[in-house]
Amino acid sequence: MSQFRGCCPSRRLQKALQFLSVCPTGLLGPGPFLMAFLKKYLLPILMVLLAYYYYSAHEEFRPEMLRGKKVIVTGASKGIGREMAYHLAKMGAHVVVTSRSKEALQKVVSRCSELGAASAHYIAGTMEDMNFAEQFVAEAGKLMGGLDMLILNHVFYSPMTFFNRDTDMVRRSMEVNFHSFVVLSAAALPMLKQSNGSIGVVSSVAGKIPHPLIAPYSASKFALDGFFSSIRKEFAVTRVNVSISLCILGLIDTETAMKGTSGVYEGYAAPKEECALEIIKGTALRQEEVHYSYMPWSSILLQNPGRKVMEFLSTRMFRWDKLKSNQKSP
Ligand SMILES: NC(=O)c1ccc[n+]([C@@H]2O[C@H](COP(=O)([O-])OP(=O)(O)OC[C@H]3O[C@@H](n4cnc5c(N)ncnc54)[C@H](OP(=O)(O)O)[C@@H]3O)[C@@H](O)[C@H]2O)c1
Repeated sequence: MSQFRGCCPSRRLQKALQFLSVCPTGLLGPGPFLMAFLKKYLLPILMVLLAYYYYSAHEEFRPEMLRGKKVIVTGASKGIGREMAYHLAKMGAHVVVTSRSKEALQKVVSRCSELGAASAHYIAGTMEDMNFAEQFVAEAGKLMGGLDMLILNHVFYSPMTFFNRDTDMVRRSMEVNFHSFVVLSAAALPMLKQSNGSIGVVSSVAGKIPHPLIAPYSASKFALDGFFSSIRKEFAVTRVNVSISLCILGLIDTETAMKGTSGVYEGYAAPKEECALEIIKGTALRQEEVHYSYMPWSSILLQNPGRKVMEFLSTRMFRWDKLKSNQKSP
């Protein structure tokens, strides 16, 4: 680049452009030198960096990581939640499960004991009642003598239909799918701080991209991203060592989802057993996001580089030093 030394800035820029871009049409375009450079150096370097990132960024999951750990799974009477309880039991964890149906939970707990859980309990109740949500965490903590992992999974599925001004459906979705998640995490935080624990937040592709016919559900899942991704940043700044994994799921073959989408939505459903395992793995490995879907490439499309850049820039604009001195940290 010595040929550019000593030129005025505009002349230097002109020369640099000529050097990189020689296009027969006279328009600015990649010249032969640039193409050769990209092919010879840049692409191989990028490939190596990507391979390094892929293979080094992920710590290997071992089922022993969960042995003796104290775990809460909500919405565990059926579907993905029940499969998570079974995986955790096989790994030798202590589990406390919850949902509304006592009979179903009793069966899940006895199966967990057969599968090898260190201990298994259930507490039945509805997540429409925030007092129940709060007391449930305290009770579960007492039963296990602490808490290492909180998996928030229960859901109120609004029926697939056009929004017909049923605002009560929106309120209910927000309460069960969002507000109760916040209440449960707030109640669990002191115990999770003590154990340097983790929170797994089960969300959906519908919480990343808008989906017609399920506006209330989609809104509640978007809210999870907004809230939990924000407090993850607060934890980083205030050095709270509790990880938050937002789990973005595509269509999964649970009974409720299959019934709810039948005749309205055509898409391949991924198996709930594998999905449950991926949520546990990602949460145990403290990944910020866990993606699981029948279409593996969807996770690449859902990575939003623009959002990442904006997050990085906006985080730098806060005066953390001032805030920390006059505010109570989480
Ligand atoms: N399946 C999919 O295609 C799919 C796709 C994307 C994301 N997800 C997410 O994955 C998670 C699990 O979905 P799933 O398909 O496994 O659901 P599911 O089979 O219908 O199970 C839902 C669980 O939530 C409990 N629940 C429902 N309402 C409740 C309430 N008011 N209070 C307390 N518990 C309640 C249910 O038990 P009770 O009825 O006994 O209360 C059940 O245990 C959800 O967060 C969902 O959004 C699923």
